[in-house]
Amino acid sequence: MKYAIDLKVPSSQEWLNAVMQDFDTFLQDHADCERKASAMATSLIAKYPDREKIIPEMIETAIEELEHFQEVFELMQSRGVPLNKEMKEDLYIKQLMPLTHGGTNESRFLSRLLMGSIVECRGCERFKMVSEAHEDPALKKFYKTLWTSEAKHGNIFVELALQYFEEETVYKRLHEMMEFEGEVVKNLPIKPALH
Ligand SMILES: [Fe+2]
Ligand SMILES: [Fe+2]
Repeated sequence: MKYAIDLKVPSSQEWLNAVMQDFDTFLQDHADCERKASAMATSLIAKYPDREKIIPEMIETAIEELEHFQEVFELMQSRGVPLNKEMKEDLYIKQLMPLTHGGTNESRFLSRLLMGSIVECRGCERFKMVSEAHEDPALKKFYKTLWTSEAKHGNIFVELALQYFEEETVYKRLHEMMEFEGEVVKNLPIKPALH
């Protein structure tokens, strides 16, 4: 069942071209993103140990993201690509973070869950573009597996929000945050990275 909403701004062909032209550099960033996604899920557990409905899903999401990291790392090893020595600043996440600041404890909890959905939905869109652009059947299939998994995660965060908040409150905030995300994406520098 679909709970997430559609992105307001599609990713550009220029972004896809940058990724396809330097796929090994993209893989280094992609690996970091999967590891960070796993950490994000466990950080929600650390922040909200009393919100018991989110715990099982966040454990599962953290494990799945770590498995994605493992798979990307294996792919990198087969291509002789090392992990990044230092994690590069993610301008996309940095610009989205203020969406989860301010307001009440309740509104921050809602925004943090919805932020999870938004980042997953953008990842899903971009992995789908990468899957469709690759001609190598193995890479095509790998990115297809990933985008279907990120689509599932995109829905989970909204489904969890709906367990704690009214539907109208959830979707009003989700649309607001998605609008903001669209503006951020439009203005991101183009580089061979997930964001
Ligand atoms: Fe992932
Ligand atoms: Fe994900």
